[in-house]
Amino acid sequence: MVITTPYESGRDFLSPNRNLSPLSTEVDANKRLMVGGCLLSDLAQRYGTPLYVIDEITIRTACRSYRDALVSHYSGSSLPIYASKANSSIALSRIIASEGLGMDVVSAGELLTALEGGVLGEKIFLHGNNKSEEEISLAYRNRVNIVIDNRYDLERIEKIVPSGADPASIMLRFTPGIECHTHEYIRTGHLDSKFGFDLDQVKSIFKELQGVSWARLTGIHAHIGSQIFELKPHQDLAEVMADVLLMGRNFGHPIEDFNVGGGLGVRYIESDDPPSIQKWVQVVSEAVIVSISKRKLNLPRLICEPGRSLVATSGITLYELGSRKSIPGIRKYLSVDGGMSDNPRPITYQSSYSACLADYPLEVPDEIVTIAGKHCESGDVLLKDVSLPKSKSGDVLVVFCTGAYNSSMSSNYNRIPKPAAIILLSGQADLLQRREQPEDLLRYDVIPERLRELG
Ligand code: LLP
Repeated sequence: MVITTPYESGRDFLSPNRNLSPLSTEVDANKRLMVGGCLLSDLAQRYGTPLYVIDEITIRTACRSYRDALVSHYSGSSLPIYASKANSSIALSRIIASEGLGMDVVSAGELLTALEGGVLGEKIFLHGNNKSEEEISLAYRNRVNIVIDNRYDLERIEKIVPSGADPASIMLRFTPGIECHTHEYIRTGHLDSKFGFDLDQVKSIFKELQGVSWARLTGIHAHIGSQIFELKPHQDLAEVMADVLLMGRNFGHPIEDFNVGGGLGVRYIESDDPPSIQKWVQVVSEAVIVSISKRKLNLPRLICEPGRSLVATSGITLYELGSRKSIPGIRKYLSVDGGMSDNPRPITYQSSYSACLADYPLEVPDEIVTIAGKHCESGDVLLKDVSLPKSKSGDVLVVFCTGAYNSSMSSNYNRIPKPAAIILLSGQADLLQRREQPEDLLRYDVIPERLRELG
């Protein structure tokens, strides 16, 4: 049984990233699985499968955990911002805005979604190593902070801002020499990264930007990686960033924002043990305070930009089990009606997930099965060799922790339509994204005139 609700485990209730299932997970009198006060097999029936399901209380709890922990542990001002690449929709943006968080966006699409969701331009930060002129201009017109990643960004900001107009508010991103792709990390002088200025370039950028009328350098930024369980790399980051802050202020830049990026990991499987949001914020805040005080600087506004740890645990995906294939002595395959198009993480990163049957979550597992997707690709496997109770075609399978980088990385491979997404709160289910239909996928196809004639 893979469900670990806060009630059963005694795990930190306020840190959803340490849970396997959404915070509101429970079983009904018939021992069937419920989330947000709704019976999951009912939802599968009503909305169809595959179905992305979001538990609102889990997202709000994660937002409040970041916000409250920053207030408790950081004596200066602070702002958590949501890295919307993890899961972007207008409704989610509304929730994030209503919790007072800002937003990190990386494209015109994410930016428009944030604005439409009611996030204020001043609380939005536009990232990207190759922003288009249109994206930069859209950001400028909406008073969005632009994170400068390279000189090309600067050239175009200078071109876009009319003379005499308000300067663009910019934040400088640099690579801090802390590499953290797995649960190990290394510190190097130079990072092989496409993002941000190299540390060696920072000084000359500070110099070049002195006194320019078209930009105001108000922040510095560094991000060291994602799905990180260690705390030490973030402590080291604070030191590197404090040196950069000191340098920038010595050049006269009004740098107030100190953005340490995101990266806190989440629990996908039983053995994952990430730090809580509170612990992460505490360690980061203390490290920043120490590094800043050592250099006798005023405390900057501390910004962090979590994506995964804000939304992953709130999401589950419901599938219907279909065909079954047993290869004696080798493996049992159970196929579902989705797969790598709605969750590309297993095939892309060999990521592991946890699952159970919606109507038999407490039943003792009695077979080892491999959950295969329906795409024409042998590697389209969602979960490899997991224990499940006996199941039959038509049963609903629940895959946990799919709220981050599933919907946002989904594709139409094999011309399979994207699932619907719903959001649950107190027994109510609401549609968040409509299900695509196969016909929708033909919408942008054009038949050139000369091919029409052939027909
Ligand atoms: N800030 C920046 C500049 C980032 O590049 C990222 C993630 C974040 C914040 C948020 O990081 P998080 O808190 O979510 O770890 N597709 C991959 C993850 C890619 C993360 C990219 N950057 C996955 O599915 O695991």
